[in-house]
Amino acid sequence: MTIDEKVRKTLTELGVLDAAGVEALFAEVRSAMEQERSNLVSRGAASEAEREKLSKALRDRWLARKNGLLSKIDDQWLKTAAKDLKPFVGRNFNALRQESAALEVSALMQVVPLGLHVAIREESSFSDSASADVGHVTREVPQDPTLPGNRRPLGSLHPVTQIQREIEEIFLQLGFRIEGGPEIESVYYNFDALNIPESHPSRDDWDTFYVNSRTVLRTHTSPVQIRAMEKYGAPLYIIIPGKCYRHDNPDASHSPMFHQIEGLAIDTDITFADLKGTLDFFAKKLFGERIRTRFQPSFFPFTEPSGEVAISCIFCGGKGCRVCKESGWIEVMGCGMVHPQVLRNGGIDPEEYSGWAFGLGVDRFAMMKYDINDIQLFFQSDARFLEQFSA
Ligand code: DAH
Repeated sequence: MTIDEKVRKTLTELGVLDAAGVEALFAEVRSAMEQERSNLVSRGAASEAEREKLSKALRDRWLARKNGLLSKIDDQWLKTAAKDLKPFVGRNFNALRQESAALEVSALMQVVPLGLHVAIREESSFSDSASADVGHVTREVPQDPTLPGNRRPLGSLHPVTQIQREIEEIFLQLGFRIEGGPEIESVYYNFDALNIPESHPSRDDWDTFYVNSRTVLRTHTSPVQIRAMEKYGAPLYIIIPGKCYRHDNPDASHSPMFHQIEGLAIDTDITFADLKGTLDFFAKKLFGERIRTRFQPSFFPFTEPSGEVAISCIFCGGKGCRVCKESGWIEVMGCGMVHPQVLRNGGIDPEEYSGWAFGLGVDRFAMMKYDINDIQLFFQSDARFLEQFSA
């Protein structure tokens, strides 16, 4: 039965015989009133005239002296109420009359001359328990399809990720695969298996983050060399990009978290010439054909012989400048022939196979490529900095 039908009957005819019944009935009326009111507010009107017409119709429907819903309630429910229920009905009726002031809605209705509406669902603002079950109301919002859409700014890859992808791409084209490993690493893989002795300074508490005596945050990507040898055996051509951690105070050239890419090639008859050729090709691909590479002897416990690779300065072309400290060269990575003991630790026979490896700092490459003088900028999430690298 609709509200309109109910107000034509007496309480007795409706079977409402006690206070709880009266309460529920009035709650239903209040809910209907509120619903009609808010529907009209949300709907809006196409013109001022329509707005006045619609809001008057709502007022009349509920409040007209003759035949308004409230006067029917007065006649059918209040006047005819049984004596014991009457005070109760009276109180509810008065409350309803007060609430009906809210039916004056014309000032709240929007005039939308275009007549274009899009329905959206919106959380009901009713707090009244009687109308809580209404849950959602549909609201209509004007939409002009000729207006431009809302532009959402697109993010872009972090400059370090961009360089990492460029480097990966070069090695993928050479037939290398990308391999990964854990950032929380055992002391064995991070140090021992790589031939780094207990006495080596890099194992000191001050250089390494120890999780416990047998576990560290990896200080380089080199431990994945051993893991990959164990997993795949030889031949092996991989690069290993990833995060590394060292107990360094942050400054313009140090960060306790940084990125490396490791390279590893193991096969029969791999020589230092392969290493030189590959890294020279890589440097030219990344920085341009005019770049020259220079190999100098160095030392790493996991390579023998070991080398340090420098490229001709990408800023001055080798003449000498601020960046290359007037030397014409910039050191970019460590490399070498994989130490026979390291091959053995990875389960590969050094009599049959040989290999080369290198390790480079991705953040340093990004700093070089984009001429950035502070590594911290990469990790501060400052949109003004990062936006400069959006493609
Ligand atoms: N792991 C070295 C470091 O973090 C870098 C390195 C040097 C890696 C020589 C290598 C290598 O694979 O052959 O300082």
